[in-house]
Amino acid sequence: MAIMKIARMGHPVLLQHAAPVEDPTAPEIRRLVADMIETMEDAQGAGLAAPQVHMPLRLFVFRVNPDRATADAEDITVLPHGVVINPQIELLGDDVRLRWEGCLSIPGLRAAVPRSWRIRYTGVDTDNRPVGGEVTGFHAGVVQHEFDHLDGIMYPMRMQDFSLFGFNEELARAAQART
Ligand code: NI
Repeated sequence: MAIMKIARMGHPVLLQHAAPVEDPTAPEIRRLVADMIETMEDAQGAGLAAPQVHMPLRLFVFRVNPDRATADAEDITVLPHGVVINPQIELLGDDVRLRWEGCLSIPGLRAAVPRSWRIRYTGVDTDNRPVGGEVTGFHAGVVQHEFDHLDGIMYPMRMQDFSLFGFNEELARAAQART
């Protein structure tokens, strides 16, 4: 396994429309997924899409750790980590909420981004088994963020209120000052 170099915003690979994975069970796809999981965990990210490691393919990895998933009282989804190859996503209902998110391609920053609270998604893993389901909250937010990467969409392109955008340290300082 290997830790991969993460493309930062401004790199053209992040603006591409990624291509479908022809054979999700191919050895090079398994290797890519293993390397992406290691890279995500090393960078302490919640998700990583293949274009972020310079591979414009329709797949992403993510993890929903229990602490973050249960921060939302209504959100009971817990998933250690997952891979989604050739995903399809459907936004359910009109409940759209601002969720704070960051991106490994935009290090040090985060923002409040409008995301659908509830979604349904499908895809396959590296054994070609179906993955996904109907999810809410953090899980739904991560999947929408990662799915966007496959269409060349970075989270600032979804933002409506740029006053809710800043460096992690400054936002933490400001939040502390308010309490
Ligand atoms: Ni991202």
